Amino acid sequence: MKLLHLDSSIMGANSVSRTVSAAIVERLQSDIADLDVTYRDLAADPLGHLTLADLGSEEGSAVLDQFLAADIVVIGAGFYNFTVPTQLKAWIDRILIVGRTFRYTEQGPEGLVKGKRIIVALSRGGVYGEGSPIAQYEHAEKLLRTAFGFIGIYDPQFIIAEGVARGEEVRAAAVANALVQASHVTVTQPAA
Ligand SMILES: Cc1cc2nc3c(=O)[nH]c(=O)nc-3n(C[C@H](O)[C@H](O)[C@H](O)COP(=O)(O)O)c2cc1C
Repeated sequence: MKLLHLDSSIMGANSVSRTVSAAIVERLQSDIADLDVTYRDLAADPLGHLTLADLGSEEGSAVLDQFLAADIVVIGAGFYNFTVPTQLKAWIDRILIVGRTFRYTEQGPEGLVKGKRIIVALSRGGVYGEGSPIAQYEHAEKLLRTAFGFIGIYDPQFIIAEGVARGEEVRAAAVANALVQASHVTVTQPAA
């Protein structure tokens, strides 16, 4: 079984999403004996902004093939200026490819990616969850659910640490809670 692990936080060792994504991968490694893990740090080893020349380029195809080959994709994402890091957006721009991951039919667009498990570790400074007065400013989980749903992955799992900018105590509790969730991740959950 293949697992693709991506991180995109710019915060290095202080990153919450990196801590949680690593815990998820560790948990799955202890569960699945033959897990073949590929790691890409999109902050240290970034893809450029998508250009016309990139569409169909060798680099773009390699990124897409790596995604398609994975049974499980674990993504670490910080919440920057209301959405995902630009490094992660550049990766998404390489996997939403017409004819490969979606196609247009007479009934509308159809996702072509089946049976892949996506788990996202998302860390937000503020509190944007359901019921929050600023919930409408959340464009990271929303973007990722839309993008993955568009290509046929309707049920990505999110493990969210939020309020981490609200002081040490809140941050520690949010991280601890996310790590508990990470320790409960199993592959027996149905793939989308
Ligand atoms: C450049 C930058 C932009 C940020 N923008 C927001 C924001 O719009 N809303 C928010 O609640 N927190 C914001 N934060 C706080 C981050 O969401 C928080 O630090 C989170 O832990 C980032 O994930 P990371 O620790 O994995 O990098 C921002 C942090 C940085 C560094």
